[in-house]
Amino acid sequence: MAGPGSTRERVTGQEASRGGSVRLDDVAVRFRTKKKDVTALRDVSLDVAEGEFVAIVGPSGCGKSTLLKLVAGLLKPSSGDVRLREEPVTGPRHDIGYVFQRAALLEWRSARRNILLQAEMRRMPADRARERTAELIAMTGLTGFEDAYPHELSGGMQQRVALCRALLHEPPVLLMDEPFGALDALTREQLNIELNRIWRETRTTVLLVTHSIAEAAYLANRIVVMTDRPGTIAEVIDVDLPDERDYATTMARPEFARATGRIRDLLGAASAAD
Ligand SMILES: Nc1ncnc2c1ncn2[C@@H]1O[C@H](COP(=O)(O)OP(=O)(O)OP(=O)(O)O)[C@@H](O)[C@H]1O
Ligand SMILES: [Mg+2]
Repeated sequence: MAGPGSTRERVTGQEASRGGSVRLDDVAVRFRTKKKDVTALRDVSLDVAEGEFVAIVGPSGCGKSTLLKLVAGLLKPSSGDVRLREEPVTGPRHDIGYVFQRAALLEWRSARRNILLQAEMRRMPADRARERTAELIAMTGLTGFEDAYPHELSGGMQQRVALCRALLHEPPVLLMDEPFGALDALTREQLNIELNRIWRETRTTVLLVTHSIAEAAYLANRIVVMTDRPGTIAEVIDVDLPDERDYATTMARPEFARATGRIRDLLGAASAAD
């Protein structure tokens, strides 16, 4: 059970439109290359409230990574409006953390110094950066591996380092693009449990792209299910579960079964494998 300090009010779509953390309004993205034009996203409108955890699932190539890049300001929409914390996104944003599918660590830097890279890029005060690094290392169970180099770390540990790096500057919004896709099922499960705890502790808004239906339903408050390209939003599913989620208990809950069942219906049997 969540203690009095750890419970949070459930965030509804209505509240989201008032104090939106991420907002996409009728967004389309078209890529023009020499060979062909591709419409990656079309008619995408989404409000994500502060502190909310939203998972995005959909077929390969439907524009999920494109959507995250729009929010990060790495890409401009062809039409429509993208806002982050109520400001129009006009270029790369620093108030986000980004975790990629591969940990993308620098091989010649230790775990600690890979995390500190974020501080160097953002010119964070050194004392604060060291303190925060120590907190994150403890939070993600990396204690004892601070001085190890990436090749001395398991895949799961490397992803933890990448997560620490993304969280170092305490970003109000965390974007994760299939962060656990390359991990074995057990490590993935463990990191899902850790991510649920970290999200509750940091209260950061999370947008998570995943191919795992179970991962989406275990972690998210809402799940955005996308259609095949051109990617549109097929449905947004509410996951009616408390924020604090014991893994085994959650899997057995009817709300979990309802959410995963609905995703499978929408995506079709072919995409249903976890
Ligand atoms: N820079 C680009 N130039 C041209 N086409 C692009 C570019 N980036 C993405 N696309 C195209 O846009 C579509 C959506 O790509 P995106 O990477 O967003 O898909 P995705 O949903 O993340 O797929 P996956 O699940 O395989 O990662 C694809 O058809 C892709 O080829
Ligand atoms: Mg992608």
